[in-house]
Amino acid sequence: MPALAPSGRADFPDGFVFGVATAAFQIEGALDEDGRVPSIWDTFAARPGTIERGETGKTACDHYHRYADDVALMAALGVDAYRFSLAWPRILPEPGRPNPAGIAFYDRLLDELLAAGITPWATLYHWDLPESLEAAGGWPARETAYRFAEYAALAADRFGDRIGHWLTVNEPFVSSMVGYASGVHAPGRVDPAAAVRAAHHLMLGHGLAMRELRARHPDAQVGLALSLTPVEAFEGRAEFTDAVRRVDGMCNRLFLDPLLRGSYPGDVVADLAHVSDLAHVADGDLALVGAPVDFLGVNYYHPTVVTGGFWPGSAEAATSGSGRPRCEMGWEVDPDGLTRLLRRLHEDYDSPTIYVTENGSAWPDTVTETPDGGRRVADPERTAYLQTHLQACRDAIAAGVDLRGYFAWSLLDNFEWAFGYRMRFGLVHVDFGTQVRTVKDSGRWYAALLGAGARP
Ligand code: FCB
Repeated sequence: MPALAPSGRADFPDGFVFGVATAAFQIEGALDEDGRVPSIWDTFAARPGTIERGETGKTACDHYHRYADDVALMAALGVDAYRFSLAWPRILPEPGRPNPAGIAFYDRLLDELLAAGITPWATLYHWDLPESLEAAGGWPARETAYRFAEYAALAADRFGDRIGHWLTVNEPFVSSMVGYASGVHAPGRVDPAAAVRAAHHLMLGHGLAMRELRARHPDAQVGLALSLTPVEAFEGRAEFTDAVRRVDGMCNRLFLDPLLRGSYPGDVVADLAHVSDLAHVADGDLALVGAPVDFLGVNYYHPTVVTGGFWPGSAEAATSGSGRPRCEMGWEVDPDGLTRLLRRLHEDYDSPTIYVTENGSAWPDTVTETPDGGRRVADPERTAYLQTHLQACRDAIAAGVDLRGYFAWSLLDNFEWAFGYRMRFGLVHVDFGTQVRTVKDSGRWYAALLGAGARP
């Protein structure tokens, strides 16, 4: 393990934002309360065989009721900012029918955050599409992008006085490919052509939503979060060079190019030709998608080592290991991969302003009792992950990358999608039987870095 660096805020540029991130469906619970309607994740999780151990988002971290305690935890950690998502099915259960009780929840949360001096960063769409919109066609249907823009307009009207930082969509790659091609995520469709349409409509939704936000709040900072991964050939072998190009094309450039260059990459369009002719891309779409963002949100977890292509068939790249250690998700731990990724974005995409909007790792944590009767979670692997990836951020900044902040995934252990509650990413441990929260050693390390003092 590298030396214990960084050791404090002074190791980062002035104003560098340190935060934590969550998403509504993963933490809130209270799925049937106050007028919320089902999302695709409610329906998907209810289907046998979709989620490990048949778990659901029913209670999750009970954050809907415990939000004030959770904000107090964040304050104890000393974070500057909190990235969370607004639940579309709570706020706008049906087109044209805002839900005051759902809106009131976020009013309470925002008031609590602002009183604690924590800057809210809101994601509009972190995968919880109202089920009624899936029934009407879901993201493969163009109409969904327009419904998303209406929801964005409502959120801007109701919360724009208190939210100055917005992310439109989270990880359109995962949402489209894992949701509609491999079917491992909601809505669980296995239809590659639909997935390609979904990918475009998510990006179109981003562009339309950004236009609504900007019209209402010209000073707002608006971006989105992409899941990005450096792709490398297994054992560096030349025979996999084309696989690297193809997988990089699908995972990264299919989203980066329309966003930051206003066009789809020609080689990826050619790769996709047998799946989709992209006839769903209408005139004017790419101008909307490619309108300037204030920042690019980078969700980075791991590199991708490939031996094969991507299509047809599954949405998973044919991958193999490189021998690096892996976290419990099976993901290779590679802090330098983050530096390489950030430098590549800087070089290939004209120096965008970047925030790392998610980064973290899952480990099988256990709570032990301390001699004084307290609780402790010793998670040296997560601490090392956090520390080395923050060091990777410093390396990128030193190389000239315009990186302005870092959000650890996640504040809390939570509902990790198809894995249910088994995968624990939190800086704070959650006992899902009692809802007791325990700041892990990694959380204490983060708090110390930030100059706070997390409670035991
Ligand atoms: C990302 C998701 C986030 C979380 C992490 C581990 O793909 O955006 O919700 O599940 O992975």
